[in-house]
Amino acid sequence: MKYLITSALPYINGVKHLGNIIGSLLPADVYSRFLKQQDLEVLFICGTDEHGTPAEIAAKDEGLEVAIYCEKMYLKQKDIYEKFAIDFDYFGRSSAASNHQITKEIFNSLDKNGFILEEKLKQFYSVDDRRYLPDRYVTGSCPHCKYDKARGDQCDLCGKLLDPLDLVNPKSAISGSSNLEVKTVSHLFLALDKLEEKVRAWIQEKEASWPVYSVSVAKKWLNEGLQPRCISRDLDWGISIPKPGYEDKVFYVWFDAPMAYIAITQDWARDVAKNNDAWKKWWCEDLANTQYAQFMAKDNLPFHGVMWPAMLLGADANKWKTVDCLKGFHWLTYEGGKFSTSLKRGIFSDVAIELFPADYWRYYLLANIPESHDSDFRLDDFVTTINKDLVGVLGNFVNRVAALLDKYFEGKVPDYDVNNEHVKKLFEHCHPFAKNIEEDYFGLNFRSLMRNLRELWCFGNEFITVAEPWKLVKSDKKEAGNVLAACLHLIRLYAIASYPVIPASAMKMLNYLELSKESTKEKFKLAESVVFDYLKPGEKLGNIELLFEKITPEKNLELQEMFSSIS
Ligand code: 2FM
Ligand code: ZN
Repeated sequence: MKYLITSALPYINGVKHLGNIIGSLLPADVYSRFLKQQDLEVLFICGTDEHGTPAEIAAKDEGLEVAIYCEKMYLKQKDIYEKFAIDFDYFGRSSAASNHQITKEIFNSLDKNGFILEEKLKQFYSVDDRRYLPDRYVTGSCPHCKYDKARGDQCDLCGKLLDPLDLVNPKSAISGSSNLEVKTVSHLFLALDKLEEKVRAWIQEKEASWPVYSVSVAKKWLNEGLQPRCISRDLDWGISIPKPGYEDKVFYVWFDAPMAYIAITQDWARDVAKNNDAWKKWWCEDLANTQYAQFMAKDNLPFHGVMWPAMLLGADANKWKTVDCLKGFHWLTYEGGKFSTSLKRGIFSDVAIELFPADYWRYYLLANIPESHDSDFRLDDFVTTINKDLVGVLGNFVNRVAALLDKYFEGKVPDYDVNNEHVKKLFEHCHPFAKNIEEDYFGLNFRSLMRNLRELWCFGNEFITVAEPWKLVKSDKKEAGNVLAACLHLIRLYAIASYPVIPASAMKMLNYLELSKESTKEKFKLAESVVFDYLKPGEKLGNIELLFEKITPEKNLELQEMFSSIS
């Protein structure tokens, strides 16, 4: 079995907030790192979603050509994800030539198979801008809550989906002009209604391996009865439509964005695998031996669970790999309210990563992942959790062990008895936790994973507190050696079990054990790591780098002040 992983492509317009990071990128990375650690064949694909009105509008706000804006933001986002240690096999772009080609190919197949319709629509035409206005290019007052900066597709204040024709006092977002006419225009539609049965049968086949929530969202959409969906837009920036009469239009962003998963894999094949055909084995060959998991926030579930599969099934029912596990997340809220890119509310990834190392954010976000319901990011809770779990439990244990070994055993692995009863009991106790952690990783149960991980870390401190090797060393040095050797094996187990969550800290632990080279070469098998016979007695240990630094009350105050204006 090989594993294909995609995480929803973040929109290009702006740096993403922490809610975006935990809502798809980070859990996908954890899964990918874990599977790679187990020596399985994995491909983790992502990239920026660059088309649509938000990109055009953001570029305009910065006074840049949209292509230049996208290039700049692509590099910026890529750099931030690298700093968060999100280890994609390839981070591409939906605007790449490969995506233009595959999107057109799939559109042509859908058209040939009778799943593309032409229909007339009423649309605003801006006389002063001399162009048709796609939904986001119209602003006005929300008919529901009267918010006066509502967009044609949605109101940012009350969250209701809108049609531009519903807005009160509509204006062009380009020029601000209210000289608008309503005209009737031809657009292309994907005949989702005709694809409904195919999708229903496909979901039935797949649903056993999807989380219940994803199944319910997809079925809800399906059971409401699928309607044809408009896939053309009046924009310059995007993928042009290869059909006579539509030369001035481009595809709707949701038509080409998921195709980019395939296109980005083609770019990976060209640039990384150095074999232009290498993408095929992931998308159109040996389909039964590929396990495909998609990660996304809940608002993306209908598109990934219904619309994109409908497109692939309608283009060619047997050709394409479709998702096996659709993992959707709820919302991470910020201090009890919404994170919002447009309103700049919350903590954004560029700011976060300058404040603390990636592992701090990774740990806190994963421990609070909105897996089965929304969860809240709270700055004070972030500080408490880091100080308690990372500094107080894991960091403290590793430091205590290292200091004792330095003091009493010349910084070397002590002699130890692999059959020591005391240690045997400890490892018997750890074993089920390691097993559960492994199951949690494979099963994508992040909340349970984080609980089990923390509990496993706690054993170390409990063990050393009860065994008191600092006293034992005076009465029974041999036994003190057993205890500390057991602790070193625990550190190895912790590094292996925690690596997908806090990779940099895990590598520091392995460096301390002088195992980093060996272990990356061999890969770390979690199931085989609950052992007490791995380290060589007498072997010199490395230097222990400080794993985590306590967030002081002063720093805490500084943080509270820094973010107080957005709470
Ligand atoms: O919601 C979003 O952030 C979208 N940009 C996700 C697109 S996922 C895929 F289809 F490309
Ligand atoms: Zn509103």
